[in-house]
Amino acid sequence: MTRGLFVTLEGGDGVGKTTQAELLREWLTGQGREVVRTREPGGSDVGLEIRELVLHHRGDISPRAEALLYAADRAHHVATVVRPALERGAVVIQDRYLDSSVAYQGAGRVLDPGEVRRLSEWATEGLLPDLTILLDLDPAAARGRLDAARTRYDRLEAEAAEFHGRVREAYLDLAEAEPERFLVVDAARPVDELARDIRSRIAALL
Ligand code: TYD
Repeated sequence: MTRGLFVTLEGGDGVGKTTQAELLREWLTGQGREVVRTREPGGSDVGLEIRELVLHHRGDISPRAEALLYAADRAHHVATVVRPALERGAVVIQDRYLDSSVAYQGAGRVLDPGEVRRLSEWATEGLLPDLTILLDLDPAAARGRLDAARTRYDRLEAEAAEFHGRVREAYLDLAEAEPERFLVVDAARPVDELARDIRSRIAALL
């Protein structure tokens, strides 16, 4: 059985993950590959309900409850969308996956990062991406992009600058720990240069 390719995009809010995911989708589709573009939270029907809750609930959600909500979204998404697509041989291009939980709920919310990771591994029966693209950007620059583009912030985007600084450091540590899984790109560079670097890494995997 051919197995597809599982590619995730990670990074802080406003670093340009969606733009790069879309460019990658166009390029792969042009090569005749089946591409499934998806995201967490909210990549399934159940996930859309969890997304609304976890991102827009008014009032506090305790850190462990938040971690479990993201893990629940992930469990259903992997079981109903991601695994079936990979089994068909598709390329799955996904905005955010378990590294988001480790970075945001682990470093950001100060839960134990190892426990947060094990929770996601349990939720997904151990599915890891073939490649994770980390778009690295100074949180202040990312915030400038978000301010220009939006009026409504979700619960995590509204966190203090210090929180986003911890998230960035956590991502860089994750990439350093698993260099074969991660491609780290400087998201301050021009969009087309980033897209070219990403394509050449993917081409080597196909
Ligand atoms: P989203 O609008 O998808 O953010 P972006 O466009 O920046 O990717 O919102 C997802 C938010 O949820 C984002 O602030 C990061 C957060 N998040 C977690 O805290 N943990 C997780 O496991 C995931 C998947 C996302």
